[in-house]
Amino acid sequence: MSEIKQYDVWDGPTRWFHWINFLCVVGLIAVGVAILNGKALGVDDGGKILLKVVHVWFGYVFALNLLWRMVWAFIGNRHARWAAMMPGGRGYWRSIRAYVAGLCSGRPQQYLGHNPLARISVVLLFALLLIQAVSGLVLAGTDIFYPPLGSWIAGWVAAPGVDPASLQPYSPHLYDEAAWQEMRAFRKPFITAHYYCFYATVLMIVLHIAGVVVTELKEGGTIVSAMFTGRKTFRGKPVDE
Ligand code: HEM
Repeated sequence: MSEIKQYDVWDGPTRWFHWINFLCVVGLIAVGVAILNGKALGVDDGGKILLKVVHVWFGYVFALNLLWRMVWAFIGNRHARWAAMMPGGRGYWRSIRAYVAGLCSGRPQQYLGHNPLARISVVLLFALLLIQAVSGLVLAGTDIFYPPLGSWIAGWVAAPGVDPASLQPYSPHLYDEAAWQEMRAFRKPFITAHYYCFYATVLMIVLHIAGVVVTELKEGGTIVSAMFTGRKTFRGKPVDE
């Protein structure tokens, strides 16, 4: 019988990132769904502004946390690094085939870090979160004149004689009509990306959770608790030891 061994896998910053990201994304989705259904919920203009302000504050924490994780991927431990998260590299397709064969035969291979299939979902999730962060930061400026672009947008759309710093959302009488229409055209690709990537993100989150549950059950592992403790326990030698 092979011995049971514990390994340190997820370092502290990676675990903090994961749970802060989880809380922010839950908050962003909840408030985002309320924004999407504002009319059906009977929310007036004041309520819409409040929802957007709350969403944007969640968004700042979310975007900073994501940025920090991208930096940490250069300096964190071996499992936190880009090389361990990105699909590809030498032998990657062979490792996918071996992993899938193991799953199908009921004798799944065990990995310390992300398994080769999980890497695909990690990179897709990261890309979607990044698109949401960038498009969201632009919308914070175009919709409620919040940083980082808010003062530039306000200067763009303020009617002659109106102090851009005093500009309020949902106040068309304070805007220059032509500049406002130009700004809306500029905003369009960002809101479109934010809208469709929202659905794609929700889909990826469902797949991510399903993947974690299946791995936990099939590999009899400790991957859920490892995101709290940082440690994984294995009987036998993991592939990437
Ligand atoms: C996982 C991350 C995020 C998700 C799932 C998300 C989700 C959503 C959803 C569903 C909407 C409603 C879309 C619509 O009305 O068409 C929305 C709107 C908005 N989001 Fe996000 N969001 C995220 C990140 C962010 C970030 C980081 C910011 C800014 C810091 C942000 C700022 C905004 C703003 C200003 C709106 C209002 C746009 C509008 O509907 O007029 N979002 N978001």
